[in-house]
Amino acid sequence: MSVADLLAGKRVCVCAGSGGVGKTTTSAAIALGMAARGAKVAVVTIDPARRLANALGLEELQNEPCRVRDERLAGAGLEIRGELWAMMLDPKRTFDELIDRVAPDPGRAQEIKQNRVYRELSTAVSGSQEFTAIAKLYELDQEADFDLLVLDTPPSRNAMDFLDAPGRLTSFLDGRAMKAFVRPTGVGVRVLGRGASPLLGALSRVTGVDLLSDLTTFFGLLGDMTNDFSLRAAQVERLLHSATTAFLLVTSAQREPIDEAIWFRRTLQTSGLPFAGVLVNRVHHDLLGDSEPEDVAAMLSERLGAGLAAKVAANFRDYHVLARRDHNNVGRLAAELDGSPLLLVPQLDDDVHDVAGLLQMHRYLFASQAERDRMIDAVVA
Ligand SMILES: Nc1ncnc2c1ncn2[C@@H]1O[C@H](COP(=O)(O)OP(=O)(O)OP(=O)(O)O)[C@@H](O)[C@H]1O
Ligand SMILES: [Mg+2]
Repeated sequence: MSVADLLAGKRVCVCAGSGGVGKTTTSAAIALGMAARGAKVAVVTIDPARRLANALGLEELQNEPCRVRDERLAGAGLEIRGELWAMMLDPKRTFDELIDRVAPDPGRAQEIKQNRVYRELSTAVSGSQEFTAIAKLYELDQEADFDLLVLDTPPSRNAMDFLDAPGRLTSFLDGRAMKAFVRPTGVGVRVLGRGASPLLGALSRVTGVDLLSDLTTFFGLLGDMTNDFSLRAAQVERLLHSATTAFLLVTSAQREPIDEAIWFRRTLQTSGLPFAGVLVNRVHHDLLGDSEPEDVAAMLSERLGAGLAAKVAANFRDYHVLARRDHNNVGRLAAELDGSPLLLVPQLDDDVHDVAGLLQMHRYLFASQAERDRMIDAVVA
């Protein structure tokens, strides 16, 4: 089973998982591999490391996919039969463009964009990245003609934040509860009563933020647009649940991310979202087999001298401990998956920050099981 098999017939691939496990690099390597196999692919990355962004030619913030020029990919030894497009998500701009799109006229769009509540919302770090990533995905699905969209996801502390955040923000924008709260005759005013007004008044004098009036203005401005948000939210749900969408969980082999992947996969299943498989990244493969780390020092001392041989052996021992740990964690995950696809990518010698690095990752992602076993054997031999 390779990524190409997992994504056959798919139009959307969402790479989700805990923070720092390799979602951004995996997304780019998957997009590269699918483009090599002839598809027109766009990858939407979120905060890629600067060097990776440079490698893909993403230095300018376009907020639209740009074609990665063939010469950037040339020399890498991989023929690109299709097209690779890439973009870095700009959440604030995506949010603004969404308002431009759903506002009845440019004047109203402008007023909303200047509203304080909107400004806070659209730049809030938590939530708006998730919301805008999904909004961008939907827009590209509707308006562009890519064969495949690969969506990287934000560095959430918890993998589930990604699924929850767009809904939370949409229901805030949909704002039925909030509107009822801030209406002059609404619950908020009734509950807080007259007592609240002086309090809020004092707050606005001290802080300069007139929360109630800003909120009221904001929802006044949104007006009927809230219906559009609800409608869009429903369409986005449909896209995410579609049989042509694939959620690929990315994790490292450490205990916590593995636990989270197990939990995330169960949640995808109970939510009816199309789970495609798990990719365990940065796995330390056991290089020693049955021999003990101590044997290594004995084997090497003749060639390296006792001092150096002891150091190498110590290194081996550390690696060996990691490999055993990874092996146990991956085993635990595999038992949970009941045969669902599980792909392993080894810990590479270097960070993945250029096309050569992506290619190395690509080799593992797109190899058949037999090829993968051979690669691991070659490392061990
Ligand atoms: N198989 C690998 N071997 C070695 N280094 C790797 C491997 N995969 C990823 N890396 C490195 O790990 C770091 C984190 O990867 P990446 O940025 O893709 O993670 P992420 O899940 O997107 O993180 P965040 O949640 O912060 O967005 C990067 O420096 C990347 O180059
Ligand atoms: Mg990332």
